[in-house]
Amino acid sequence: MSKYLKSLLRGILPQNELEMLYSSYDIIGDIAIIKIPELVVHNKYVIGKTMLKNIKNLKTVLMQRNSVSGEYRLREVEHIAGEEKYITVYKEFGCKFLVNVATSYFSPRLSTERLRIANIVDKNDIVLNMFAGVGTFSIVMAKKKSSKIFNVDSNLDAHILSNLNTNLNGLKDRIVSLHGDARKILQSQEYKNKFDRILLPLPEKAHEFLDIAVPCLKPSGGFLHFFSHIKSETKKNVVSESEKNIKRLFSKDDYDYQITHTQVVRDVAPRIYQTVTDLFIMRE
Ligand SMILES: C[S@@+](CC[C@H](N)C(=O)[O-])C[C@H]1O[C@@H](n2cnc3c(N)ncnc32)[C@H](O)[C@@H]1O
Repeated sequence: MSKYLKSLLRGILPQNELEMLYSSYDIIGDIAIIKIPELVVHNKYVIGKTMLKNIKNLKTVLMQRNSVSGEYRLREVEHIAGEEKYITVYKEFGCKFLVNVATSYFSPRLSTERLRIANIVDKNDIVLNMFAGVGTFSIVMAKKKSSKIFNVDSNLDAHILSNLNTNLNGLKDRIVSLHGDARKILQSQEYKNKFDRILLPLPEKAHEFLDIAVPCLKPSGGFLHFFSHIKSETKKNVVSESEKNIKRLFSKDDYDYQITHTQVVRDVAPRIYQTVTDLFIMRE
């Protein structure tokens, strides 16, 4: 992507600015989101217009002004070219997601991970997606095979989009979306000992919710899909660092667990990696 962007901008931007451009940008439906280095920002409109002219089916170019941040994991975006809009439809694996890129979290870069989890879910599983966003993981799962999925998200916009996406994909009988803080909602007895599988796709803070997630698994055994961010000088140590971290987190607990799989999901910053670990937990 970056090579393509650089080739488009060759002869338009000075060589030193071309070299500073970041290695990739996101395309979400008909919206492109690009990070532009500080020293190149004065050329943001030229970059936006060039992308719009050359990338097929693009309607809008937004500049990302900061890293994903805050409880709702949002990125601040500024319109730089094309139609000024923030809502689009993203398609993957036969699913459609209505997304507002300004008010709810969405990343096209998790698509392979969404498919991986959907492929290992059993069709009779009752699943809890604790940080569901606009419902992406749940929709890919439910389309493939999962029987019943409960979504939780504290961001009202994401929750509304999650409901719309459930309907858009014809999954009203399989997905229930709940709005609010997962910690508060899952205190209810209704959710204890209930789930075969729980997703914790909030890598910065998932560890803070283990005490509330584990009692929601069936005591006879259930899977956790635990996401984390791992700092590491080299990628080859990331899986072992991630598993060491899990062992530290679970060292004081009095139930059995087995790590069944760990992998790097993606690079999030220099020397910071997003990982996922699948664990089977038994409490009886
Ligand atoms: C990194 S996003 C992941 C969203 C979604 N799983 C996806 O991959 O598209 C994390 C989500 O957790 C939600 N969140 C953060 N803290 C929460 C909490 N305490 N209870 C419920 N949801 C929370 C945010 O609003 C955000 O939508």
